[in-house]
Amino acid sequence: MKRETVVVLDFGGQYNQLIARRVRECNVYCEIYSYKTDIEKIKEIQPKGIIFTGGPNSVYLEDSPAYAKEIYELGIPILGICYGSQLMMHQLGGKVEKAPVREYGRIEVNVDTSSKLFQDVSPKTICWMSHNDYIAKEAPGFRVSAWTSDCPVAAAENPEKGLYAVQFHPEVLHTQEGTKMLSNFVYHVCGCAGDWKMDSFVEESIKSIREKVGNGKVLCALSGGVDSSVAAVLLSKAVGSQLTCVFVDHGLLRKNEGDEVEAVFGPEGPYDLNFIRVNAQERFYEKLKGVVEPERKRKIIGEEFIRVFEEEAKKIGAVDFLVQGTIYPDVVESGVGGESTVIKSHHNVGGLPDYVDFKEIIEPLRNLFKDEVRKAGLELGIPDYLVFRQPFPGPGLGIRIIGEITAEKVQMVQDADAIWREEIAKAGWDKKVNQYFAALTNMKSVGVMGDERTYDYAIALRAVTTTDFMTAESAEIPWEVIGKTTSRIVNEVKHVNRVLYDCTGKPPATIEFE
Ligand code: XMP
Repeated sequence: MKRETVVVLDFGGQYNQLIARRVRECNVYCEIYSYKTDIEKIKEIQPKGIIFTGGPNSVYLEDSPAYAKEIYELGIPILGICYGSQLMMHQLGGKVEKAPVREYGRIEVNVDTSSKLFQDVSPKTICWMSHNDYIAKEAPGFRVSAWTSDCPVAAAENPEKGLYAVQFHPEVLHTQEGTKMLSNFVYHVCGCAGDWKMDSFVEESIKSIREKVGNGKVLCALSGGVDSSVAAVLLSKAVGSQLTCVFVDHGLLRKNEGDEVEAVFGPEGPYDLNFIRVNAQERFYEKLKGVVEPERKRKIIGEEFIRVFEEEAKKIGAVDFLVQGTIYPDVVESGVGGESTVIKSHHNVGGLPDYVDFKEIIEPLRNLFKDEVRKAGLELGIPDYLVFRQPFPGPGLGIRIIGEITAEKVQMVQDADAIWREEIAKAGWDKKVNQYFAALTNMKSVGVMGDERTYDYAIALRAVTTTDFMTAESAEIPWEVIGKTTSRIVNEVKHVNRVLYDCTGKPPATIEFE
């Protein structure tokens, strides 16, 4: 059976991923394509609906992104958002021009609730606006279905043709009833049934992996992070002991983390797979001796990781499939799908590792957003603490020890970090912040312990709130939690005589210290 799909045509808007996520939250599968995608490709997909995103341009200027007008004649419902709404009006004979008053922020919008798009929406509703241009006159055949004091056409529609245009952003949470509008579009306009659910995703994936793999051998690098854990469990449910997972303990993991990963995925755990733990701590410490520069540390850790993995893979011999934990934002951000500026070229996409002898790559999470990966993880019965684990950088504690890394320093930061995490969780703050950890500064300072002078290290505590990790704010953790953590750290962790709390946001700081 073919899955219902809604296509997001990306005109360079900053919220393209958000639109797709919101649609999926309505249980309708959604994929992002660049506006440069050939219309034949769109026809092939046979989407139930199409959404045009916003974008930074003015539709009336030459060279602004546009789309083949044939799209309006396919009989597929279209929702144009912001730039997308203006494009629809412009191409169909309406008038778009520079707005006399620029609308930005939360604006009260009057909507005609007889529109299918605004069914059950309040007649006056707060929406998020951000535009310089506006629709001065709707296209022939359209009627105005929403307006504000400064914007005569905040929404327009031609229901017979299934064409809808909204000047505001329903995908942004500031638009109070935006989710209802998107849900109205996919259910009442496009007629979707809502077949995108994680239980069926898991079931279908297991089936298709089984068909693909047959009797083949599968290799997976397991880090204990959410993505690789979910990928590994999915594979193990599909092909059992044909799967081998290699877990490299580089000695820069959090306290007890190696054992925790082993407890879940090792022979004592619930899963049927071959688990290989490589204790490579000494090798990594040796390579990192005397290295203080953060980017060099990252490079050394990354390269050494590949060497270790390669050696293990060689022992296993040729495999048929290599599993990668690529997820949908990696695909979109690498510019494979959408149109927004390439933010980072993700190592998981495109550049296949050439250091392992394998025939094909399997990326079972390639179409999932992070929250969907977590839902799939829960569906697969993976323990909560693994599924909701906070992000942890690949180079691990290596970039949380400022300056040279030694085994002693690793232990200090592990112990301090474990105390901080424990106290944060006890106070219930683990649900309120997105990332929190301890780092070891390379500052030594004078202190006094009993009657003795000390000259020891300072630990820095960090806790941030963020939605996308591109910007972040330092969390206002209650003083008593910080105080309790401080006294435990100076008492329980040797060679620490000072604890600092990092109050800096990002920018100007970064979340990690290196
Ligand atoms: P920054 O420090 O850049 O961190 O504000 C943003 C997010 O990225 C994580 N991070 C990394 N993850 N390898 C990774 O896999 C790295 O080298 C790395 N550096 C930072 C960081 O933990 C935070 O979630």
